[in-house]
Amino acid sequence: MRSPFFAAAFATASAAATLDWAAAYEKANASLAKLSQNDKISIVTGVGWNKGPCVGNTAPVSSINYPQFCLQDGPLGIRFGSGNNAFVPGIQVASTWDRALMRERGQFMAEETKGCGIHVLLGPVAGPLGKNPAGGRNWEGFGADPYLQGIAMAETIEGMQSVGVQANAKHYLLNEQELNRETISSNIDDRTLHELYLWPFADAVHANVASVMCSYNKINGTWACEHPYALNTLLKKELGFQGYVMTDWNAQHSTVESATSGLDMTMPGTDFNGGSQYWGSKLTQAVSSGQVPQSRLDDMVRRILAAWYLLGQDSGYPAINLKANVQGTHKTNIRATARDGIVLLKNEGNILPLKKPKKLGLVGSAAVANPQGINSCTDQGCNTGALGMGWGSGTASYPYFSAPADAIKARAQTDGTQIGLSASDSTSSFRSAVDGADVAIVFITSDSGEGYITVENHAGDRNNLDPWHNGNDLVKAVAAASENVIVVVHSVGPVILETILAQPNVKAIVWAGLPSQENGNALVDVIYGDTSPSGKLPYTIAKSAADYGTSSVRGANDDFKEGLYVDYRRFDKEGIVPRYEFGFGLSYTNFTYSNIFVDGRPTAGPATGDIIPGGNVDLWETVITVTATITNSGAVRGAEVAQLYISYPESAATPPKQLRGFEKLTLEPGAEDIVAFDIKRRDISIWDTAKQSWVVPSGVFNFTVGASSRDIRLSGTLEVP
Ligand code: NOJ
Repeated sequence: MRSPFFAAAFATASAAATLDWAAAYEKANASLAKLSQNDKISIVTGVGWNKGPCVGNTAPVSSINYPQFCLQDGPLGIRFGSGNNAFVPGIQVASTWDRALMRERGQFMAEETKGCGIHVLLGPVAGPLGKNPAGGRNWEGFGADPYLQGIAMAETIEGMQSVGVQANAKHYLLNEQELNRETISSNIDDRTLHELYLWPFADAVHANVASVMCSYNKINGTWACEHPYALNTLLKKELGFQGYVMTDWNAQHSTVESATSGLDMTMPGTDFNGGSQYWGSKLTQAVSSGQVPQSRLDDMVRRILAAWYLLGQDSGYPAINLKANVQGTHKTNIRATARDGIVLLKNEGNILPLKKPKKLGLVGSAAVANPQGINSCTDQGCNTGALGMGWGSGTASYPYFSAPADAIKARAQTDGTQIGLSASDSTSSFRSAVDGADVAIVFITSDSGEGYITVENHAGDRNNLDPWHNGNDLVKAVAAASENVIVVVHSVGPVILETILAQPNVKAIVWAGLPSQENGNALVDVIYGDTSPSGKLPYTIAKSAADYGTSSVRGANDDFKEGLYVDYRRFDKEGIVPRYEFGFGLSYTNFTYSNIFVDGRPTAGPATGDIIPGGNVDLWETVITVTATITNSGAVRGAEVAQLYISYPESAATPPKQLRGFEKLTLEPGAEDIVAFDIKRRDISIWDTAKQSWVVPSGVFNFTVGASSRDIRLSGTLEVP
């Protein structure tokens, strides 16, 4: 429980607070003085693809005890390891809306990373933001809202860096689709850039992230990794970023422009063919000819060394061993995030939790683990059997896999329930499995990933928002044969559910997301009622794919014409009724909301404070506190995610409402507690393009607290003079 007055202290007392850039820079300067020009070039230039133990490596420099430096994917744990866990993807931990679980996940991932001697774990991901619901890598990040993304970025980074591992905020910036990601130009206006896409990176910088990865795409016509405005102006000046910028793998296009624009490290150092190299000896020449100032090279090295010292990696860091056994007891976090990220979408007649059924019929290929082996597809590049994550570089091998059918069978034994199983998507072979069953559970999926792998004709981005493997037909067929159907969806992102909802016998929909190795166990926890579901959607589920107004762009340019109106911001503005709105999720209990209280006296006008990591210092000050009382008015223990949305004065021309706070609290039946939302100056500011500053507009702000973006329970106002 958090009292409203404890909240502010809690927000600032973070692991990041113990990190001291000034001390790190002092050490970096002392070491820099000892380096030869060749040492410096080697610190900023990767050794080449596949030329070291990690996906990115630089050579050691003995004079300063700088190690063979190791950078490894990725955002959910160690890729290409064999003794580590596969944590849940970003989208699943986002669905929990649970700050403590986000932070613990970061910490546990980093404990494994450090145990393997890896210096930089290449995550978390805030780009894509997910403006395109079919974007192939949305599942690596934290959902289609910058505030939610920002909180999850900060918690993850602080958790990771608290154990001495460098985090990496990626992909900076505007990498919203896989199609043509290495050629496309994301063209955007200044305000949208700041209020949506830069926003979570500001949180990352504020959390003292050690490194940032620039993305493959162009921004307004210039490559992201040689974009002076994106790197020098926005990231290093406006956000006060103290760490270093590395390229995405092979995302560098020049020697001089990238160096002078703010790039600090090239990865993997050469391109994948081992052909062209832009730094290395070419950078040496560019410095000696004066095209790149020596001070710029020194700045690159200083930033890289400072990050290394910041995390204390200069003393007692383990040797690199990607095969080390580092799992520990971290699976507790995987089970908790897998479980608490499950969103209950529909529960007619309280069919869930299950009530000791005599027979359960399980249907669908996704009910069982991949029959070819749980890690049989490189980088999880297939959708065979139960789904736990998308595919691509942001994956890890499963140490084990709890499949739904196995977990349900184990649990069913305690109730004496008979299990029928048809581990197939065929509409004609499930009859005996569901015959005589009180309840049939159908498992369907939708998958996506990184574009270097094509799975069942999906080249990274999804081709549509329908379930894979004829999931709609399978549900229809089972619903024609069984009166009580529960549909379990494992998916990377929104799926159009209209066909499924049109079947009257579909009584429940369990949105199980991407639960990684704890897939089945997490599901059992929820469908048997050991835990009441408490996840909420981190994106909108529309009635039709066209309702999103965005999709993968085929040409050379993505003009971001939708501006600020992405996901629920668009649905609200256009009056489009979603099927399940952003922030939605049912529980086995009920929560009532009362006593909203809005307190604060913010002043209108621009932010003025000094630049600290994250931007002007005053942007991060709490200026308003909103409190409300939440009561568990139902019959069982449960957790509620209370959400705060702000509507700005009309003159600000902002989306109708924007998420600016959330708190999750667990309550016993009949119990109540107070939630407190700390509203920072940034949360009530808009980016003023003329002033080139965050500005608090004057006028009346509306604060609404509710159970989703549309289930508003309380509201209050505050006038900023
Ligand atoms: C490309 C991906 O975009 C990036 O996320 C990853 O870290 C690198 N490859 C290295 O595998």
